Amino acid sequence: MSSVIRAIRGMNDILPDESDKWGYFEEIIRTWLAAYGYRNLRTPVVEQTDLFVRSIGAITDIVEKEMYTFVDHLNGEQLTLRPEGTASCVRAVIEHNLLYTGPQRLYYSGPMFRHERPQKGRYRQFHQVGVEALGFSGPDIDAEHIIMCARLWRLLGVTPVRLEIGTLGSPDSRAIYRARLVSYLERFADQLDEDARRRLHSNPLRILDSKNPAMQELLKDAPRLFDDLDEESLAHFESLQTILRNRGVDFTINPRLVRGLDYYNRTVFEWVSDHLGAQGTICAGGRYDGLIAQVGGKPAPACGFAMGIERILALMVGLDETYTANRPDIYVVHQGEMAADFAWEVAEYLRDQGVKVVLHNGGGAFKSQMKKADVSGAQFAAVIGDDEAKARRISLKPLREAAEQVSVDLAEICALLGKN
Ligand code: HAM
Repeated sequence: MSSVIRAIRGMNDILPDESDKWGYFEEIIRTWLAAYGYRNLRTPVVEQTDLFVRSIGAITDIVEKEMYTFVDHLNGEQLTLRPEGTASCVRAVIEHNLLYTGPQRLYYSGPMFRHERPQKGRYRQFHQVGVEALGFSGPDIDAEHIIMCARLWRLLGVTPVRLEIGTLGSPDSRAIYRARLVSYLERFADQLDEDARRRLHSNPLRILDSKNPAMQELLKDAPRLFDDLDEESLAHFESLQTILRNRGVDFTINPRLVRGLDYYNRTVFEWVSDHLGAQGTICAGGRYDGLIAQVGGKPAPACGFAMGIERILALMVGLDETYTANRPDIYVVHQGEMAADFAWEVAEYLRDQGVKVVLHNGGGAFKSQMKKADVSGAQFAAVIGDDEAKARRISLKPLREAAEQVSVDLAEICALLGKN
């Protein structure tokens, strides 16, 4: 016998019970996004590698070590499975000139790919819902993103989640800070770990994000980005905080919030849950005013965020009865030739009325068919034997409550199910 082929490490199948939960989540997401006027954008999962190098940044974990990159043997192009959605969204907006008609509120959802070490909450294929607002410069849109997230956590029942916000200032103020940080860190060159040493001159701000306790200790007295902020960025950050306070959204300011992607400026934020262990960030984003120009478009400000669907679903526990939208209403069991024909008629008729029906397939005794009806999760079994078929009646048996079986005709069954 040949060996079993398994899914790739860090890439998961989503089985039907779990998938019901995804469906419930996706329904809430669609209504929530429509309530804020965001429209869907679908982009390919494969892009030119250069798009991600240019946008996420050459000296980032994602680009340096996590991208699934390959050469298209037919034309030699270097391609990459998207590790995130912002770059593709910006590319599509530029390519189709979407900002021509004014600012855009967009969202996307789907699989992203990063070659990370898999663990609970961290996968190589994971799924994001991403939200991007392009062409808006004021802090009110940053606030809109944060406030809409706060609403979503309530809708999904995943509170409490902590909000951390920070600001990276303008590219100029960041350059001043960068120089100060480098000269501070150079004084401790012999104490820097390998990662920090490598980043010292290529991407020193990322050192602030180090998980190494020794580095964290060393950074305690490091200069603070806040002290070099330009006035406009400070005012932007103040306004954002005012809107959040007025709307009753709690937050803490994290001056070390630097994010793992290079395209951010000014506002950055992360929503963190304390119930997910090491992978607690369920949603993150910020402003990226320079990215559109960097990818070749006419300069325009923008901001956005993305949430990790797997991590959010892991917080949605104890609601299993809620995720039943795809379960059948009725499971039709039948025995006998005439019964089979009538069962077909009943099933198709009920589907015409919007009832979700599973028609038993494969024969067998009534008893074993009833077991399958029960396992299907249906509310009712419709029992049809040749006698019922002759009388054009159906025995309707409730499966989820201790009520009596009743005999109904096609019109009555619809009334009973609240259809028609
Ligand atoms: P990110 O912080 O790299 O940002 O990812 C956003 C979220 O995706 C994370 O907070 C996390 O919930 C989830 N996530 C990331 N990597 C993994 C993984 N390996 N396994 C499971 N979940 C993961 C971005 O991707 C930016 N594009 C967000 C953004 C949109 N900024 C502006 N607009």
